[in-house]
Amino acid sequence: MLFGLFARKENKILSRIGVDVHSHLIPGIDDGAKDYEISLLCIREIVKQGVKKIYVTPHFQTRRFNNDEDDVRLRFEELKAKVADAKIDVDMQLAGEYLIDDGFRARMESDKKFLAINDKYLLVEFSFNQSMMGMEELFFDLQMLGYEIILAHPERYSYFYTDSNLLIKFKEQGVYFQSNILSFGGFYGHDVMKRAYAYVEKGWIDFLGTDMHSLRYRDALENTCKKSKFQKMMRKQNFLNNQL
Ligand SMILES: [Fe+2]
Repeated sequence: MLFGLFARKENKILSRIGVDVHSHLIPGIDDGAKDYEISLLCIREIVKQGVKKIYVTPHFQTRRFNNDEDDVRLRFEELKAKVADAKIDVDMQLAGEYLIDDGFRARMESDKKFLAINDKYLLVEFSFNQSMMGMEELFFDLQMLGYEIILAHPERYSYFYTDSNLLIKFKEQGVYFQSNILSFGGFYGHDVMKRAYAYVEKGWIDFLGTDMHSLRYRDALENTCKKSKFQKMMRKQNFLNNQL
């Protein structure tokens, strides 16, 4: 009986990573979960798949989601209380996902602190439409400030499809890459899925995240976790999630 329980636990597909480093689960803060009910349903699914710790990473952008850190902290505490009330066995933590836009450097040079994982690992994303100049220098300056950089979902930027030189340069300068679990299930299309597997094959992907937003994502997570190709990759590959 004991063995049965143990075996079942180990069979959870995401127990090998144990930590979700990317999610949008605070209601009303960004384009993530719309209310607590949806948020809790999403969290239950992530936990069901074997995750023990979830970093909630609301968007911080200069224009669309110009969130205030103090406000985000307050709302995060409310979410944490809801999760505790619902008796979901998971460690909820707060960080942010920062868009590298034209206001990012100003923010970097101001006194505003970034919400980074363990005050160190900064999750950043690029625009999906066009690449920006000067990213290597910007990342270098962030590193000089003591941050480790995690680039969110490199497989999703179409401008890297034909030219991945910049990604190679990022890896050379020590930038970590985080792929979305849903990318492996085809949620963002066939090209993104192909790219995600190719980057894993190259050894470029250090972290996985759900990038969970809504029930549509929850359903896609459940489906992705059932796919044998994804399961095979999870058995074979080592990621760094459980170090955070
Ligand atoms: Fe995200």
